[in-house]
Amino acid sequence: MTPQTLADAPYCAGPKSKALFNEEQEYIAPGLQTIALYAQLAIDGGNGATLRDVDGKEYLDLVAGIGVASLGYGHPDWARAIGDQASKTAVGSFTSPHRVNFLRTLASVTPKGLKRCQLYSSGAEAVEAALRLAKSRTGKLEVVGFWGGFHGKTMGVMGLLNDGFKNDYGTMAPGLHLAPYPDSRRCPFGAQQPHDCGAHCLEFLREKLKRETTASVAAIILEPIQGTNGNVIPPAGFFKGVRDLAREIGAVFISDEMITGFGRTGRMFGCDHEGVVPDIMTIGKGFGGGFPVSGVVTNDETASAKPWSNPSGSSSSYGGNPLASAACDTTLQIILRDKLVENAATVGAAMLRRLEELKAKQPLIGSLRGRGLMLGVDLIHPKKQQSLDKAVCREIFEEGLKRGVLTMSYNPSLRINPPLVITAQQALEGLDLLGEAMQVVARRRSL
Ligand SMILES: Cc1ncc(COP(=O)(O)O)c(C=O)c1O
Repeated sequence: MTPQTLADAPYCAGPKSKALFNEEQEYIAPGLQTIALYAQLAIDGGNGATLRDVDGKEYLDLVAGIGVASLGYGHPDWARAIGDQASKTAVGSFTSPHRVNFLRTLASVTPKGLKRCQLYSSGAEAVEAALRLAKSRTGKLEVVGFWGGFHGKTMGVMGLLNDGFKNDYGTMAPGLHLAPYPDSRRCPFGAQQPHDCGAHCLEFLREKLKRETTASVAAIILEPIQGTNGNVIPPAGFFKGVRDLAREIGAVFISDEMITGFGRTGRMFGCDHEGVVPDIMTIGKGFGGGFPVSGVVTNDETASAKPWSNPSGSSSSYGGNPLASAACDTTLQIILRDKLVENAATVGAAMLRRLEELKAKQPLIGSLRGRGLMLGVDLIHPKKQQSLDKAVCREIFEEGLKRGVLTMSYNPSLRINPPLVITAQQALEGLDLLGEAMQVVARRRSL
C-alpha cells in the first residue's frame, strides 16, 4: 500500500494529524491495524474513555485499542506507578514488590486453584507458552482450536486461526486441528431451522477427536467469547461441554482470556460465566492497562510439569520485569478499587438495551449480542439481508469519526469494547452518535 492510496481516505483528519500520518507512511512498514490506517489520526493524549488528536479534536473511544485500554487513557495512578518504577529499575527477572503484590492479588481473583502465573509480553507468546505447558503436562502433541478462533499471529499458533491471516504462509505447525464453532449468526453445518447448535458442535468435536487426531491431543483451546470473530458468545453449556471432552481424552483445557479477562465481560474472567475452572488461562491485553504484558495462569500440578518448569524453561527476557509488574499490579488494583468489573456489567447491559432500541429504528442493524463491555453488532444490507458491503461500513466509520466517536464499524461484524472506565452517559452518547452515522449513510445510499 503506498502513501498515496492511504492518503485518499474520505474522512479528513485535521491538518496536524494528516501531516504526521503522511510523514510516517514514508517509513513505517505496511500492515498496521485497519483502524489506524482508516482513521489516519495522530494521537496526542486522552482522558478516561476519550482520546484527543494532535489537532485538539476529541473522540469517544468504543474500541480501547481492541480491548487493551481497560483503564482508558492518561490514568494518573497508572502513569505515576510506571514513572516511579521506571526511575528505579525497569528490567530483569528478579522478584519485585509489584510482582509479588500482583501475583498474590491475581491468585485471589482467579477461578479456584489457578494460582500459578508466568508472565510474558504479548498474547501470542503467552498462548505459545500455554501450548508448551500442555505438551509438558500431558506428554501429548496435538492441539484443537475452533473455527472463528483467534490466538495470535506467531507461527506456533497461526494454524489455529480461522481466517485469511494464515493464507499464503504455506504449511502450518503440524498437529493443529480446528473444529466447528456454534456461531449464533450462522450454523457451521448450514442448518436453516433452529436447533441445538452447541450440542451438535460438541457431538461433531467428539467424532473429530476420534477420527481425525492421532489420539495424542495435549490441549483444546477456546475463547469464552470469540473476540476477533465479532464478539460471538457460544450457547450456554458449550464451553463446559468442551472442557468435559478435554477431560475425557486427557487433554488440558485452555481458556484464552486475552480479551475476556479482568472484567471485560462483567465478571472477572469469561469462564466465570459458566462456572468452569480451566486447566490453564491465557491472559493479556487489559490487565496491563496498555503496557505490553501477558501471562499463563494455571494450577500447582500443571505448572510443575517438565520441561516447562525447569529453570529458564518458561521464562522470557521481558516477562514480569519490574516495569511490566508495576503496570499490571497497578491496573488490577484499580480494577478492584474502582469496581470496574461491576461497571462493565451495568454499563454493558445499558449499551445492549440502547442497541436494541437503535435496531428497532435502524434496518442496517442485524443481530446483536453482548456480555458486559464486549458487544457485537452485525451490519446488514436491509434488502438483501446479507452482510453490509465493507465500503459502506467504512463510510459509517468515517461518519462516526466526524461526530467524534471511534468504533470498528468499518467491518460488518462490528465489535464494541470500550475502556472499562467508560460511564453510562458516555457509552449511550457514543451509541447514539454511531446510530446517527448509520442513519446518514443509510439515507445517502438509499438503504
Ligand atoms: C483471544 C486472543 N488470543 C490471543 C491474541 C493475541 O494477542 P497479541 O496480539 O497480543 O499477540 C488475541 C489478540 O487479539 C486474542 O484476541
